[in-house]
Amino acid sequence: LAPGSARTALLEWYKTVHDARGMPWRKPYDPTSGPNERAQRAYEVWISEIMLQQTQVVTVIPYYNRWMEKFPTIRDLASATIDEVNTLWKGLGYYSRASRLLAGAQKAVAEYGGRLPDNAKDMEAKIPGIGRYSAGAICSIAYGERVPVLDGNVHRLLSRFLALHAPPKAKSTLDILWAGASAMVGAENADVESYSSPQYPGDINQALIELGSTVCRVREPSCETCPLKAWCSAYQQFSLSGEPEKRAP
Ligand code: ADE
Repeated sequence: LAPGSARTALLEWYKTVHDARGMPWRKPYDPTSGPNERAQRAYEVWISEIMLQQTQVVTVIPYYNRWMEKFPTIRDLASATIDEVNTLWKGLGYYSRASRLLAGAQKAVAEYGGRLPDNAKDMEAKIPGIGRYSAGAICSIAYGERVPVLDGNVHRLLSRFLALHAPPKAKSTLDILWAGASAMVGAENADVESYSSPQYPGDINQALIELGSTVCRVREPSCETCPLKAWCSAYQQFSLSGEPEKRAP
């Protein structure tokens, strides 16, 4: 599905764009960091990913900064009241996200020594509001765990990449797309490290999310600038036939 060269092209592209929008939750992954630093990173990435679920990057940035000033650690959040949390959330909408952050922090403090679980499987199983997407994003970015992400952006990108014309929400479709996302990030494939110098899963996943939202857009995708066009089935069909094949199913 994704030869090493496609992944390398994706990461080369990501290097050129990834700090352009000044996202405060993005910090270079440090494979030598200890458990405390990893736990703190997981907290920060968790907050950012939940905020980003239904809200655009530019809107999230000031909310994220205010949140981190008020609740710099998961313990600060766990001891907050729901009113304090909702006040900081005001304007972001979907308030259930905020109450689940509070509940998740309280559970992490009460049951896991003030840390989110240290792997995606447990994080998804144990923490309210963290599903497969969020667990994959947090653990790949904060822990360097080789687990996939599939959000709306990556769903569209991979549907096109595979030229998958299938009902988007069907379980069989989602299984194929999660498998594609796993192949992209090299899940269960230690060999990915040998493709080129360190290819961190958090970078691969964030590159996919970013490519999906900025290049492989819903409308008028910018195929000519896409680093994956040489491997993209929809693009190949489009350029061979002249028929627009760029729409996600
Ligand atoms: N949307 C969701 N997660 C994101 C991330 N880590 N970077 C940019 N946009 C995102």
